[in-house]
Amino acid sequence: MDKLVIRGGNPLVGTIRVSGAKNAALPAMAAALLTEDPVILENVPQVRDIVTERNLLAAMGAEVELGYGRAQHRTTISCRNLINAEASYDLVKTMRASTLVLGPLVARMKTARVSLPGGCAIGARPIDLHLKGLEKLGARISQEHGYIEARADRLTGARIVFEKITVTGTEDLLMAATLAEGETVLENCAREPEVVDLAALLVKMGARIEGAGTPTIRVQGVHKLHGARHRIIPDRIEAGTFIVAAALTGGDLTIAGCDPQHVAALLSKLEECGIHAAVDADSVRIVGGGPLKAADIVTEEYPGFPTDMQAQYMVLATQAEGTSLITENIFENRFMHGQELVRMGANIKIEGSRAVVRGRTALSGAAVQASDLRASASLVIAALVADGETIIDRVYHIDRGYERIEEKLRGVGAQIRRIGQLIPKRIAAAVEAE
Ligand code: UD1
Repeated sequence: MDKLVIRGGNPLVGTIRVSGAKNAALPAMAAALLTEDPVILENVPQVRDIVTERNLLAAMGAEVELGYGRAQHRTTISCRNLINAEASYDLVKTMRASTLVLGPLVARMKTARVSLPGGCAIGARPIDLHLKGLEKLGARISQEHGYIEARADRLTGARIVFEKITVTGTEDLLMAATLAEGETVLENCAREPEVVDLAALLVKMGARIEGAGTPTIRVQGVHKLHGARHRIIPDRIEAGTFIVAAALTGGDLTIAGCDPQHVAALLSKLEECGIHAAVDADSVRIVGGGPLKAADIVTEEYPGFPTDMQAQYMVLATQAEGTSLITENIFENRFMHGQELVRMGANIKIEGSRAVVRGRTALSGAAVQASDLRASASLVIAALVADGETIIDRVYHIDRGYERIEEKLRGVGAQIRRIGQLIPKRIAAAVEAE
């Protein structure tokens, strides 16, 4: 298994470019299931979760063509001849967003068989709201041998009120509703930019959608969707990760190719901590190194402070003067990075859904272990700040969602390198599967 070796203390200086948003690319790829025509997606990040989704679609009979050279971030997906409307356990267990194929498959193929995801490192993550919504649209749902089966000759429009705001749930039902008969009204929807981006793609494909980005989305079902070309929005969580890294390492970093509006909650929190960002149309410049003041955060749905930035913010809190209270409202078990940060010298007490961080404490390099995607990003930031060398194990978590992170950071002055396969692949795969 690969490890990252990071020597802390270097300021980050220069320009770092943000990739396309993984969480927008995943539903966009699933949307290709809704049509027989090719869907061409630009700015698709080259990360592990995208490879998993490609494999998932290919196993169903989709033809997936990758661009090369300058077009390496282009993916063309053609779902003309789907042979198998199934998402297997092997794929769903490695990426829970695989459940995004459920809605499009029932809508287009009249049937879908998708493995139940089960637990994961950051909590239970059920998909009950996806299923209730599909039932409202007229699908018959059954469960057998760990798989969900959904069937419907044609889905029919309905009014669906989400009991809880869910990002992929909103996306799944939005896709299903595009081909349903009549009108669907989705209420209490997620307002994340990734939902808006998916709706933009679906509209290009011929769907009739109003209200994406607001709590109520209206969809007038159509008989058929056609192909489209679409550019995926920039990754706001990758941008946010670099913004926090810049604030802490005391350099002068421009985070380019991002949408500053999508990181507004983070920037206003950083302002409270004493870090001012210079914002342009598609970039954010951070000059770090000044004193930081503690500030509390509560994770919320968009446009609130994102749960996917909570771990990175925790590192910042360790470097701020005073006590920061971090409340995690979205997932129940998302503080695993806290214990690793304590091993690096942080003062963090975790009580249920709250973490109390007392700063400022010096961090020192240590051997640490990544537990999930965003937790690994927080360990990278901590390592960039820490005194001495940090070795981060299980970096396959970070490869799920960050494209060439070590190359990007090395390009702006970080001392970071990857040490590869220390044990034979066969054994590593067995260990990863545990
Ligand atoms: C998405 C993002 C993930 C982010 C999360 C919250 C993708 C691929 N992933 O995940 O990076 O951390 O939003 O911003 O876009 N819930 C239910 N029943 C359901 C669905 C969700 O109870 O059927 C609960 C979840 O357990 C959680 C909350 O709702 O407590 C929000 O989850 P949700 O928005 O669905 O997260 P994901 O879409 O899985």
